[in-house]
Amino acid sequence: MDREVSVVDAAGSSPDPVMRVAGLRVTFATDHGPVVAVDGVDLDLYPGRIHALVGESGSGKSVSGSTMMGLTHGPGTTIEGSVEFGGLNLLGAEEKTMRRLRGRDLSMVFQDPMRSLNPMHRVGRQIAETLEVNAGLSRREAADRAVEMLAAVGIRDPKKAARSYPHEFSGGMRQRVMIAIALACEPRVLVADEPTTALDVTIQAQILTLIAEMARSMNTAVLLITHDLGVVGKYADTVSVMNRGKILEYGNCAAVLQNPQDPYTKRLMAAIPRLRGPKRKFLSAST
Ligand SMILES: Nc1ncnc2c1ncn2[C@@H]1O[C@H](COP(=O)(O)OP(=O)(O)O)[C@@H](O)[C@H]1O
Ligand SMILES: [Mg+2]
Repeated sequence: MDREVSVVDAAGSSPDPVMRVAGLRVTFATDHGPVVAVDGVDLDLYPGRIHALVGESGSGKSVSGSTMMGLTHGPGTTIEGSVEFGGLNLLGAEEKTMRRLRGRDLSMVFQDPMRSLNPMHRVGRQIAETLEVNAGLSRREAADRAVEMLAAVGIRDPKKAARSYPHEFSGGMRQRVMIAIALACEPRVLVADEPTTALDVTIQAQILTLIAEMARSMNTAVLLITHDLGVVGKYADTVSVMNRGKILEYGNCAAVLQNPQDPYTKRLMAAIPRLRGPKRKFLSAST
């Protein structure tokens, strides 16, 4: 891969990456023998920048993201390489350290918000609890901040929303709540794993815009995992194209989308209906 990636901040200088993944390799033991799910992945995440990890289902995106957050475990699982964050290699960090980091500095949003929200607790309480445990706010401060977060993720009548239960919300609203929880402590790294795959297209655009805007305003580095190359150019700065555990191509989104080098990237591009024909010009102009 010989493409240059330019990351320049508003002042014109290049910031240091907040997370550096190098030579990441994850092997699972299965009944059919070892499966190499991630096979030598390198990734750098920068503050306030969105890096898309794109590829078809089964290519190793989720395993990469979870391993970066220290969430890949299990008998027979081998993890090699390094995930550097805050002067630590997270792959060798103790679970206690990882739990502390995941509460504050490292955060995740998944495809299905119902899996992560507790159906028994009011939404406001769930956000407040994160703030009490991880940011040391008092119960009162945390409750106020939870309402602010609900407002920040675009929920109307945030006070009422704070008193509601997850089942009272639509899928899109629940995903907004998850984003409020994930970003409540202003994490330094957010892994968003197919955060809008379960939502309809209009809501999808709103949620991705929300993640992008909030990440930039908090200077959070985002790994946006998606199977849809169509969303990449609109929301990400840089992109890695992944297949069978390997990164085949990476670079600035505009460069990769306008001039894909790898045959696999070209095939993914061909699978996006709106990139075909004359409308292609429109996408190039907007990236
Ligand atoms: N716990 C596991 N044990 C064995 N194989 C797994 C496990 N988790 C994921 N895999 C395999 O690793 C590969 C990559 O999976 P995944 O990262 O979930 O793909 P993606 O997110 O790109 O759809 C797949 O072939 C999947 O079946
Ligand atoms: Mg996945």
